[in-house]
Amino acid sequence: MNNIVVIGAGTMGNGIAHVFAMKGYSVSLVDISADALDRAMATISKNLDRMVKKERISSDDKVQTLRNIMTNTDLSEAVKTADLVVEAATENVDLKLKIFQQIDANAPANCILASNTSSISITKIAAATSRPEQVIGMHFMNPVPVMKLVEVIRGYATSDEVTETIMELSEKLGKVPVEVNDYPGFVANRILLPMINEAISSLHEGVAGVYEIDTVMKLGMAHPMGPLQLADFIGLDVCLSILRVLHDGFGQAKYAPCPLLVNMVTAGKLGYKSKEGFYDYSHGGKELIVAKTFRK
Ligand SMILES: NC(=O)c1ccc[n+]([C@@H]2O[C@H](COP(=O)([O-])OP(=O)(O)OC[C@H]3O[C@@H](n4cnc5c(N)ncnc54)[C@H](O)[C@@H]3O)[C@@H](O)[C@H]2O)c1
Repeated sequence: MNNIVVIGAGTMGNGIAHVFAMKGYSVSLVDISADALDRAMATISKNLDRMVKKERISSDDKVQTLRNIMTNTDLSEAVKTADLVVEAATENVDLKLKIFQQIDANAPANCILASNTSSISITKIAAATSRPEQVIGMHFMNPVPVMKLVEVIRGYATSDEVTETIMELSEKLGKVPVEVNDYPGFVANRILLPMINEAISSLHEGVAGVYEIDTVMKLGMAHPMGPLQLADFIGLDVCLSILRVLHDGFGQAKYAPCPLLVNMVTAGKLGYKSKEGFYDYSHGGKELIVAKTFRK
């Protein structure tokens, strides 16, 4: 396996291209937006600089890694010689189904098709292709060059051989792959999102304030970041959409999104990316917002 195509050059796509290229794979990074591709290459270069500074790689390694990445805005062309396609485009079911049909129509018969989706069913994506046994989830964590985990998700039809290939490949990237089955939220988000939702409900019901909830989880449970701050960084809209996938998929009230989360998303308070969520990021730092949401 040598030719890797990464679809989507956003937050995750640039990180995925970075880790494959650093291990010597030939990477074609694809996006519909040429600007996104330019930004991705600049981000990869900056992240490699940081690694050079920390003496984790040499300047020559940086040059070689960048040389291993080509960019392309033509998906059909890019996948023609691919051994593996890792899709990391915008989280939208219809878009992903269309992308997978396009990949399926243009990639070689033995090419493995992986998705980095956080919440869309791998079985559903696979069913849109003519090769469901070769479709698999490869769920990297953000930031990809730093985080060790790859959640490898087997769809209903994914073959043992394809699963083994992706588990081994993930190890070659220096990651720790964990195999899970395809049910809503997989494992990572099935456990993480109810915890975040419960933290928001605790705030909403006036059990405690933002600072108190995050401090309990940081100092009491040794979490590096409190659940409300983590929600801000994930994006409150993303948290809401994953909770809806869990709620729809299991049909259980315990996954119902907290009304405060729904309100905040409706009001455009999406966390770090909109500069305001449970914390205020408008001054560059992390200031607490408590007054609006905490009542005794
Ligand atoms: N951000 C995270 O923390 C995170 C973590 C794990 C998994 N994911 C998953 O990774 C995927 C990407 O998320 P992201 O945060 O990098 O999103 P993003 O919005 O940063 O990037 C998505 C990119 O996809 C591109 N795109 C849209 N349609 C396309 C098409 N038809 N062809 C090619 N490119 C297209 C967009 O131009 C954009 O550059 C999603 O499925 C998301 O659920 C995200």
